Amino acid sequence: MAITFDEQNREFMLSTDHTSYVIKITDDGYAAHLYYGKKLNHFLQDAGLREGEFPAPGKLLREKGTYLSSLPFEYPTEGVGDSRPGALSVRNEKGQYGCELFYKEHSIEQGKPGIPGLPASFAGGEDIQTLRLVLTDPVLALTVTLFYSVFPKEDIITRSAAIANDSAKTYSIARALSASFDMDDRNFEMLTLDGAWARERHICRRPIGYGVTAARSVRGESGHQENPFFALLESGTDREKGDVYGLLLMYSGNHLEMAEKSQNNMIRASLGINPNFFSWKLGSGETFYTPEAVLTYSDSGLTAMTHSYHDFIRGHIIRSPWREKLRPILINNWEATYFNFDADKIVSIAKDAKDCGIEMMVMDDGWFGKRDSDNCALGDWFVNEEKIGKLSDLVNRVKALGMKFGIWFEPEMISPDSDLYRAHPDWALQISGRTPTLARNQLVLDLSRKEIRDEIYSRIANVLKSAPIDYVKWDMNRNLSDIGSAAADAEGQGELFHRYVLGVYEMQERLITDFPDLLLENCSGGGGRFDAGMLYYSPQIWCSDDTDAIERLRIQEGTGLVYPLSTMGAHVSKCPNEQVGRNTPFETRANVALAGTFGYELNIANLPEKDRALIPEQVRRYHEFHMLIADGDYYRLHSWNDEEPYDCWMNTEKDGSCALITYVQVLGRPSTCSRKVYLRGLVPDAEYEIQEVNPSRVDMGYGRFTAQKRGYGDELMNAGFLVPSLGDYESRLYSVKRVRENS
Ligand code: DGJ
Repeated sequence: MAITFDEQNREFMLSTDHTSYVIKITDDGYAAHLYYGKKLNHFLQDAGLREGEFPAPGKLLREKGTYLSSLPFEYPTEGVGDSRPGALSVRNEKGQYGCELFYKEHSIEQGKPGIPGLPASFAGGEDIQTLRLVLTDPVLALTVTLFYSVFPKEDIITRSAAIANDSAKTYSIARALSASFDMDDRNFEMLTLDGAWARERHICRRPIGYGVTAARSVRGESGHQENPFFALLESGTDREKGDVYGLLLMYSGNHLEMAEKSQNNMIRASLGINPNFFSWKLGSGETFYTPEAVLTYSDSGLTAMTHSYHDFIRGHIIRSPWREKLRPILINNWEATYFNFDADKIVSIAKDAKDCGIEMMVMDDGWFGKRDSDNCALGDWFVNEEKIGKLSDLVNRVKALGMKFGIWFEPEMISPDSDLYRAHPDWALQISGRTPTLARNQLVLDLSRKEIRDEIYSRIANVLKSAPIDYVKWDMNRNLSDIGSAAADAEGQGELFHRYVLGVYEMQERLITDFPDLLLENCSGGGGRFDAGMLYYSPQIWCSDDTDAIERLRIQEGTGLVYPLSTMGAHVSKCPNEQVGRNTPFETRANVALAGTFGYELNIANLPEKDRALIPEQVRRYHEFHMLIADGDYYRLHSWNDEEPYDCWMNTEKDGSCALITYVQVLGRPSTCSRKVYLRGLVPDAEYEIQEVNPSRVDMGYGRFTAQKRGYGDELMNAGFLVPSLGDYESRLYSVKRVRENS
């Protein structure tokens, strides 16, 4: 049983294959957190409550405040004594803060419920159990249901909360996080994925001191800067050893991930919608639903966490029919033409691409309204026939080549210089009396309003119905600011950020329902909205506008720490690179892009012939290896640093039958010998053959080295495999195949 209830001790035990999570209902009726960690088969004591210590629980009398400030809570509330940051803060009809939750009832159910209006994981054919733990505030007549779903195989526990107002009054929610739990500090560090535009999701570790250590967004999207994920690591944790708690939020708007170290050296770990700029009016009979949090624990380092998240996202979050299919290799005209194209140009890029084996042409920004620069026309989702003729003619010309066709939209935006804005200036988010802040010369549509969502959606749907389009890139090129809606009252303005995200989710749900075969790729100025919420709608997300192979190493490493490689849009682009001006070998650009959903971002006609000649082989490699990369286990073997400037990772079939090693030299170093990389995921007693994948490189003088060709699994994992020392930006792919099962 994944979930059991010990009636005598009033304890819930949630069990996955390798973890346990224990909740206790205290004598006073609080839902307390007793344990999360390595799997236990027994749990009798409730030492975590420290009930025998000062201040004794004392039935909520004299030292209640001190008691509440040290009790490990499951869903802490604010205003009645616990002065640590709460998960829930509610204001009553007089505006006073205060909420206190007591156990009411529970049920243990089969299956995994959805969450109205929000993305949520699903059982996906597995036998999943859910605990509904119902708490109540008798003064407010507020019912808070905590949902815990247990995914044993993936070692995942999901959590969310539903907050229902059963009174006749109207309240205001000031804070409603998705999950929280308390535990004693064990010298934890916080790991987050931080960055900037074109430098997204770099792995960052920092110690946790007293007070709050946090990641967050108030940008209206998950953001380039901080991702809705964090991990708590025991210090000294690495890829293969140490305690790791992963906390991932399935949400695409303002978020908060937080570890608070309190006076008692306890850590409160929590995450959810960022309470900054948030308030929610909860009328009589209404319910507020929080987004879902996805928790995991590993006692064996970060790689186990990565595998849990990859398996879970692939199996229980991504719904697209494309999830398990080989995605078409695409070519996108953005970096090839920017706004300077017409139908003939698109067809000529497609034709050259088709000759090399590329399978889909994507027409990016600039095909609609009067959009010849990024200064205008967002919202005018009508084909610019002067520029590209009839869309169906263009699509049919590309299809006649034997390719699929994709198109770009930026549905959430409005340009001040657009027919849409001239007709509806109040449709943009703006604060009364202030000139709204422009970014990329554009404003954000007020997607909290249904009539605006309906109008934009019908414009998009009309374009998609007018031609056989296979793929949509849904872009979003600025953060939200000027959070004011012309249609909301004073209280409603506090709901705007969240209602905006609900609006985006509703539009994407409509899109994939009305066009069920569509391959949807989300994007936000590169990877500004790379989160588990978006993956519920699209199986892939453009990872970054930075397509430089070397910059991509850290971006893709951070992204792949949590998100499956099949979700990372990764393309080969021209050199010098548009973002950093670097020249890297065409081969290395492709080897790095092979780690994601593969494509090209260039005009093949402008490539040197020697590079163009490599494309058919790169297409072949994608076809040979992508499903292994998409579905297999991903192992980071080395991350480049000044002393050892090379990156190395491995994708291994789950049964250990085959693998692909990717090795990238960031900078060459003189007087160094070959590197030993220690392979992972192989069967110890099986014998393997290792082959360099079709070497097509120009030999830079390091070719004297002969790669080891055969080895046993245990030998390759423990004694290592030698890779030659390479020159700047050179790379190698090695295919590993099991040739004998057991010896
Ligand atoms: C940002 C995206 O990341 C790019 O790939 C491209 O689509 C531009 N927007 C178009 O405006």
